[in-house]
Amino acid sequence: MIRARIIGTGSYLPQHILSNVELAARVDTSDEWIVERTGIRQRHIAAEGEFTSDLATEAARKALESCGLTPDDIDLIVVATATPDQTFPACATVVQHKLGMIHGVAFDVAAVCSGFLYALQVADALITSGAYRTALVIGAETFSRILDWEDRGTCVLFGDGAGAVVLRAEAGTGTAVDRGILATRLHSDGRYNDLLYVDGGPGSTGTTGKLRMKGREVFRHAVTNLAAVMTETLGAAGLDPAEVAWVIPHQANLRILEGTAKKLGLPIERVVVTVDRHANTSAASVPLALDAAVRDGRVKANDLLLLEAMGGGFTWGAAAVRW
Ligand code: UT7
Repeated sequence: MIRARIIGTGSYLPQHILSNVELAARVDTSDEWIVERTGIRQRHIAAEGEFTSDLATEAARKALESCGLTPDDIDLIVVATATPDQTFPACATVVQHKLGMIHGVAFDVAAVCSGFLYALQVADALITSGAYRTALVIGAETFSRILDWEDRGTCVLFGDGAGAVVLRAEAGTGTAVDRGILATRLHSDGRYNDLLYVDGGPGSTGTTGKLRMKGREVFRHAVTNLAAVMTETLGAAGLDPAEVAWVIPHQANLRILEGTAKKLGLPIERVVVTVDRHANTSAASVPLALDAAVRDGRVKANDLLLLEAMGGGFTWGAAAVRW
């Protein structure tokens, strides 16, 4: 059977770092509150004129470099984003152009913070069906542009960034010893649209709108949904939580990471944490964390990785990946 294996990773963070202390000078908050309630210490903010497609293109270039491929080798680009440069065209076609590609297929998926997991399942399905051979899957966001910088309940939580992986079709045995994507599971439930949303859009207000969130309610659902989908995904691959080398989670809140790890019986030491440095970068957070753990040598060949995310919609999902 065909497996889609992750053969390269890359990421990009804008140069400007905004600390909690700097934020506390702008809204009624404190470094202590943010660190205690979320684990966040700083976030990166895109420069004026620096767009989601720029972040995505940089991450893609680094992912290609890491596996010695060039844009010529890519036949599919899927970008997960809720903050495209424009309402249309898709951010993915802008990235395609910036990479100098005039071949292949490029499109976006919109599932907010779960977007990378959604994009990964789509690309995995398209590769294992034989439709495409080599894909760039990118999560990229400039959430700083959709934040209400006067709302302390949300503006302290998010940051900008991008992460990318290169997926390639490889022969596998169809068992859990294969390297590559072993199982993915996604869920969505639109009853919870009003707990995390943007109060504008091209088809309603004609404005971009700002992010609104009932954080406490989202938190409650996050731990339950994430633990359930992680268990479901491992089960689908015939694997046990004890076999997981690294959890690569969406980075919304350190307390969510601790709570879900505990539910699965995993020590927090097996969870890759970047929320302190990156804050919540929505669809970018999982590939950003993955790239960090690959580059610093924590992730080793044949390690079992469990990727997970939950976000607006609600949407949530997980992927079991043999490195
Ligand atoms: O990526 C998509 C998924 N998103 C998430 O998973 C986010 C999930 N939610 C969370 O991470 C947490 O709920 C938050 C970090 C958003 C909030 O933490 P919390 O412990 O649930 O706090 P809370 O909303 O219950 O607020 C507690 C208090 C409130 O004051 P009162 O009513 O107790 O007097 C807030 O007004 O903290 C206050 N507060 C703040 N204080 C200082 C809220 N934001 C701030 C702030 N600085 N930035």
